[in-house]
Amino acid sequence: MADCQGDGVEGATPMELYEKLTAQGEKVRSLKTAKADKAEVDAAIQLLLKLKVDYKGATSQDYKAGCPPSESAVLSNNGQSGNGAEEDTVDPWNVATNSAKGVDYDKLIVRFGSSKVDQELVDRIEKVSGQKAHRFLRRGIFFSHRDMHQVLDAYEKQKSFYLYTGRGPSSQAMHVGHLIPFIFTKWLQDMFDIPLVVQLTDDEKYLWKDLTLEDCHRFAVENAKDIIACGFDVNKTFIFSDLDYMGSSPEFYRNVVKIQKHVTFNQVKGIFGFSDSDCIGKISFPAIQAAPSFSSSFPQIFKGRKDVQCLIPCAIDQDPYFRMTRDVAPRIGYLKPALLHSTFFPALQGAQTKMSASDANSSIFLTDTPKQIKNKVNKHAFSGGKDTIEEHRELGGNPDIDVSFMYLTFFMEDDEQLEKIRQDYASGALLTGELKKMLIETLQPMITAHQENRKNVTDEQVKQFMTPRPLKFNF
Ligand code: TYM
Repeated sequence: MADCQGDGVEGATPMELYEKLTAQGEKVRSLKTAKADKAEVDAAIQLLLKLKVDYKGATSQDYKAGCPPSESAVLSNNGQSGNGAEEDTVDPWNVATNSAKGVDYDKLIVRFGSSKVDQELVDRIEKVSGQKAHRFLRRGIFFSHRDMHQVLDAYEKQKSFYLYTGRGPSSQAMHVGHLIPFIFTKWLQDMFDIPLVVQLTDDEKYLWKDLTLEDCHRFAVENAKDIIACGFDVNKTFIFSDLDYMGSSPEFYRNVVKIQKHVTFNQVKGIFGFSDSDCIGKISFPAIQAAPSFSSSFPQIFKGRKDVQCLIPCAIDQDPYFRMTRDVAPRIGYLKPALLHSTFFPALQGAQTKMSASDANSSIFLTDTPKQIKNKVNKHAFSGGKDTIEEHRELGGNPDIDVSFMYLTFFMEDDEQLEKIRQDYASGALLTGELKKMLIETLQPMITAHQENRKNVTDEQVKQFMTPRPLKFNF
């Protein structure tokens, strides 16, 4: 790449590459028109060809004059360009960073081309909803968004919107990290009094994991119980399994097909990293996760209207699906969905990766007993404390890398109490064991209450939530 550096190409965004390419094309044309020296024309053409190769490498798309790179192409390589190995990995399947503090979310906003949830937006949400912002907003846990101001502008003019989120039912037990988007979605639903659709992608898990269709469908119904246990209102919420709903809703399937027609194999390869040996189910699946972003996929709720704006709360790992969706939307006559992205609830072992169901020791499950929670936190929660009590008292701990403190930022409601814990831990007044005890005492009642709520969810209720039907809204 030595000769590229001279052209300022290394680390350039796809849009910068596009602009450079366009300028170089014009240069070649004008040199030819002016019948310039052959060597000069050849050199300009060589550079043009090289820029085309770089552009394709960065966007997985061929350069077309007059067609700037699409939103999903902007960072389609999941960060494999630019700083290469230095960058964090964040996609629907992997989250990894070298930093004990976790993913660099500010950098991710730049790479993914989203916008920061800043104080102005938090204040606006408080103003429009008339309520104090949720702790996830106050503490930067929902840190990034797309088009939230547009959603609020419309809401202020009495134009309502709906919420869409989901879960890939890969096992019977969900972990605490999975609760984050659902806790926040429930708050949004209560604040704005709007419909919610929840997609359970049992088809996705069948395609990706070594599971039978029956297992995946069973897990979808089991996971629906955990979601219902978060307190959603049956009159405002539709939960669906893809395996059930796709076959019963012509409107949903029509949207899937429309999306499939407007995304090329090259584009999904660029966005999701699919290879030639991936089964074709995986390659076409993103259209199925995209379809609920369009209100016409739910005629029973929106009476055929295709212009009801969608807002998707999720962790940022799901963003590749919705970059693709936002690219396709205007081309098939639909509104782009807006998004609110959360950070990751870290693994017990440290914020280098997210809590993941595939590693039992990394996770606190919603099925864990109080004793299991205590043992897991005491044994596995990575500590930012010092090796000895004396050293800790003298030098203090580091809350920024301490998993117990991070977990408390998600679940402790009182801002002042949390700040005091931070200061006491950093000064050495609070020891690691004491901090862990506080976390255990926060998690145990929370999980026990969830288990109680879940126990009270009847099969009849699950059926009600999962039946396509009108909700209490008038669209
Ligand atoms: P899944 O089952 O991997 O995750 C479900 C939801 O939980 C979020 N999440 C986390 N949030 C915080 N910390 C973590 N450690 C953590 N792990 C997972 C995910 O971002 C997601 O919001 N393909 C999706 C299912 C899906 C979906 C959607 C998700 C279908 N449509 C629309 C969000 C929005 C999946 O397998 O999610």
